[in-house]
Amino acid sequence: MPMDHIEVIYFHKDQISCDVDAMVHTLTPQEFERHERLAFPHLKRDWILSRGGLRILLGNILAQDPASLHFEKNRYSKPRLKGSELQFNVSHSGDYIVYAFTQHRELGIDIEKTTPNFASHRLATRYFSEAECQSLNNLTEKEFSRAFYAIWSRKEAYIKAIGMGLSADLKAFSVDHQSSRQSFESPTLCMEALHLAEGYASAICYHGETQLPITIRKLTSLAAPMLRTASLT
Ligand SMILES: CC(C)(COP(=O)(O)OP(=O)(O)OC[C@H]1O[C@@H](n2cnc3c(N)ncnc32)[C@H](O)[C@@H]1OP(=O)(O)O)[C@@H](O)C(=O)NCCC(=O)NCCS
Repeated sequence: MPMDHIEVIYFHKDQISCDVDAMVHTLTPQEFERHERLAFPHLKRDWILSRGGLRILLGNILAQDPASLHFEKNRYSKPRLKGSELQFNVSHSGDYIVYAFTQHRELGIDIEKTTPNFASHRLATRYFSEAECQSLNNLTEKEFSRAFYAIWSRKEAYIKAIGMGLSADLKAFSVDHQSSRQSFESPTLCMEALHLAEGYASAICYHGETQLPITIRKLTSLAAPMLRTASLT
């Protein structure tokens, strides 16, 4: 049965109740190796939360053992589930990890912590299209920072939806920081701004002409098995 909505699930890394040791056991040897290569304990924990969390959520959606799920990557390193129509994408920034799930429609999600003094016209000129740069003119400092991060997160969601990451030409398309919804032709995409947490910009972008309803859930607990997400399949 086709899934007719997008599920966005996110959590604050320090406010999530979970068994990190048990989550390690959901990782493959390669994922565990990646964890071992990380230099600092907080980075190791972040990786377990992010990948282990993804495995637990996918396991619940698909009613499968989280450790049994196989991922593959496209040529630009976008992970996807082997042999499944379930689409997902992950983003992490600052204190948050966010996931998006849907069926059939490939998607990209992004969250960005709005760091003070990072937004600049120099960075905008480097990464944004001419139209996007123009839309940043004549704004107050506060408006500029907000608009900059809105553009940044929407562009990231776009390049993650098309699966190309930074191999995409960032200046070849323009997002509108003033509209919370936008659609694109060629490729046919829908974009929506998300409001997940104070001090963060976020957006989701997905393939198709028609907008899908989006359900947003903030988790406080992560365990396997946990959510009854049968509505997703
Ligand atoms: C890698 C990239 C896809 C996202 O990077 P990011 O914003 O730093 O990181 P996020 O946390 O949002 O996303 C990382 C996740 O995206 C997924 N991902 C990796 N490559 C991807 C791709 N080609 N397409 C979609 N998703 C991808 C992975 O799941 C990854 O998480 P994991 O390594 O834990 O599995 C890429 O766009 C990038 O490096 N961006 C850097 C930021 C930048 O310079 N932006 C320019 C201004 S718009």
